[in-house]
Amino acid sequence: MKEKILYIPNQDEYLKVSAINNKIIRFHFSKDREWRHNYSFAIEKEILPIDFISEESENEFLISTSFLKISMDKNNGNIKIYDRENNCILSDYENLGYKRVDKKVYCYKEIKEETAFLGFGERTGDLNKKGKKLMNWNTDNPHHTPDIDHLYQSHPFFLAWNPQVSYGIFFDNTYRSYFDMGRENENYYYFFAEDGELDYYFIYGPTPKEVIEGYTELTGRCYLPPVWALGYQQSRWSYKDENEVKKIAEKFKEENIPCNVIYVDIDYMDGFRVFTIDKNKFPNFEKMIEELNKEGFRVVPIIDPGVKKDDSYEVYKEGIEKNYFCKRENEEIFVGHVWPGESVFPDFVREEVRKWWGEKQRVLVEKGISGIWNDMNEPSIIPSFDYKMMRLLFYHLKFKEPPRVPSFLEKEDFYSKTLSAEVVHGENKEFTHDEIHNVYGLLMAKASFEGWRDAKPEERPLIITRAGFSGIQKYSAVWTGDNKSIWEHLYMSIIMLQNLGISGVPFIGADVGGFWRDCEPELFARWIELGIFYPFFRNHSATNTKNQEPWEFGEHIEDIARKYIKLRYKLMPYLYSLFYEAKEKGTPILRSLILEFPKDPNAIKYEDEFMFGPSFLVAPIYEKGKNERDVYLPEGTWYNFWNNETFKGPNIIKVEAPLDIIPIFVKAGSIIPMRGEGNKIELRVYPGEGEFLYYEDDGISWDYEKGIYNLVRFSLSKDKLSMEYIHKGFKETEFITSILNG
Ligand code: GLC
Repeated sequence: MKEKILYIPNQDEYLKVSAINNKIIRFHFSKDREWRHNYSFAIEKEILPIDFISEESENEFLISTSFLKISMDKNNGNIKIYDRENNCILSDYENLGYKRVDKKVYCYKEIKEETAFLGFGERTGDLNKKGKKLMNWNTDNPHHTPDIDHLYQSHPFFLAWNPQVSYGIFFDNTYRSYFDMGRENENYYYFFAEDGELDYYFIYGPTPKEVIEGYTELTGRCYLPPVWALGYQQSRWSYKDENEVKKIAEKFKEENIPCNVIYVDIDYMDGFRVFTIDKNKFPNFEKMIEELNKEGFRVVPIIDPGVKKDDSYEVYKEGIEKNYFCKRENEEIFVGHVWPGESVFPDFVREEVRKWWGEKQRVLVEKGISGIWNDMNEPSIIPSFDYKMMRLLFYHLKFKEPPRVPSFLEKEDFYSKTLSAEVVHGENKEFTHDEIHNVYGLLMAKASFEGWRDAKPEERPLIITRAGFSGIQKYSAVWTGDNKSIWEHLYMSIIMLQNLGISGVPFIGADVGGFWRDCEPELFARWIELGIFYPFFRNHSATNTKNQEPWEFGEHIEDIARKYIKLRYKLMPYLYSLFYEAKEKGTPILRSLILEFPKDPNAIKYEDEFMFGPSFLVAPIYEKGKNERDVYLPEGTWYNFWNNETFKGPNIIKVEAPLDIIPIFVKAGSIIPMRGEGNKIELRVYPGEGEFLYYEDDGISWDYEKGIYNLVRFSLSKDKLSMEYIHKGFKETEFITSILNG
């Protein structure tokens, strides 16, 4: 049997249950057996349910796969999920497994052994969301603090973990949705959405990595970014003209600091009109890029979805003629203020509009850019009063951060002004903005990625985005939006990135050095030390703030920055191999300790440290004036990366961390491929038991999709290293091995 439809008497509705594979079960409820929500923005591949075994008794319907048994009570629809050993992993709370109140759909589950709830996308505050309530509504909030909930991205997915078993829930609903994880009552958690259907997937682990693998099996995985996109990147709102961009590049050379990408922010455009170039500031945009490319720099421009309302502007005129912009139900085109003033917004839900946008991008692609930076795609609108204030403050009074609203005026979402709820999307106006809001950024990123593949099929791009939804990893890297140059935001990034990684997005980073406000030297040094472990490593700062390039903070800080940026490049073969793992399984690169040590009950407590792949444990310094910290080392032997001193875990140790040291420990049994002399790969081996999958390809083209790559398994037993080619489709590399103490 491939699916079972059950009547739920207490709701007078129906449940359709199907097994996506032996570990993933879909539960979909419908009022009239129509299952209107028969599409998904997050799950794009065709899913063919597998056969399952079913049994029936008077009160119960039972289905089983090779991993799970699911029992459904025929009287009230109550669902219980068991593993092979008959342990109940999850059960509905009382008979509230499905409840509809007006348009809202709810699902209540018992809190059992779950020690922690993680994931939920991009979240401030604690790593473990047990006892918290969270909302999903993409929001531009430049003043976020640890107690602010929703931000630029929405990922209605979580991982429930305890040392015995992990499972995940993906609530495939794009409306404004909520998760109350035992805040209202510690005996249950519940999730609900303002509208749509209750359509969710139960994803069994039993390990947390397997849950993420299952979740990304549904929502997709990242492509391999080009190798250069893993290097250091420099940005600023804005490098004002061609000369400044070139000077920045020259300075990197002069200072002997590697840098692969320079970004051009909104001021490269002609009056903030997307797909145009200001000819006064950038008279030779194409030539500038060509020259920079020769010197080893790539250029990535920003693109905003807001199209200036201007009758003499081609993109606007064409969009109007073709009827591509978002409208209200009454056919009136929606107009909102963004950088160019009055702007209109493409309806990215429509395939032809995405195609058109991708085509428009071609103008820039042909000028030699190497990627696209998608911004303001929550979509973010600046209300007209704010807009005037902002222009006054930023452009005339040189403010260092956006105005804060007096608290008596501060109502929810003050800064998140977005398209009106009256806007309707789609060919036949079949979607309300309430349904599309959270996926607008995802669809823009998709347009951008697909447009790139059409325009420049021979090269992988770097696409980054601020807004997104579950599945964004297929198209884009994500940065965590507008943070500040404050210690609290350095700290918050450690947690946000762990949860975003668990949510299936591996290519992530925060603005290194902080975006708003001036960065102080000590904070900058600490942020660079941490930033080399962000999968996406970009320094970016806001208009009117102090310049934030590595040489802006004095010689000592610059030396620290150089040392760490160079270390990042040294670790590139290791990092690229981790990206391969992310592409294959969805495993994050920056990992919570519980991912590597799922059975360790203490691992969840140390959210201020993380794993960089399977080998490095990183314990950042996130407080001013600190030069030592406690580090929790899970079970096993650990090497201090800096002096190779060994430690036995589990243990908490005190480590010195003068300004130029971030505590890093390497797990015994690690094999770390690093960049060596010439084209050689240096394998640094830390004695013990372990293995590592080393991946390589040309680093730039899509040839890997045709099998043109190498995959090598290195295995280590005591201090004996062996290697085996699992796949050999690319030229051979020379490896040089150094075994520690060996
Ligand atoms: C938004 C972006 C920021 C960018 C600025 C100007 O605030 O988040 O990164 O620099 O817009 O384009």
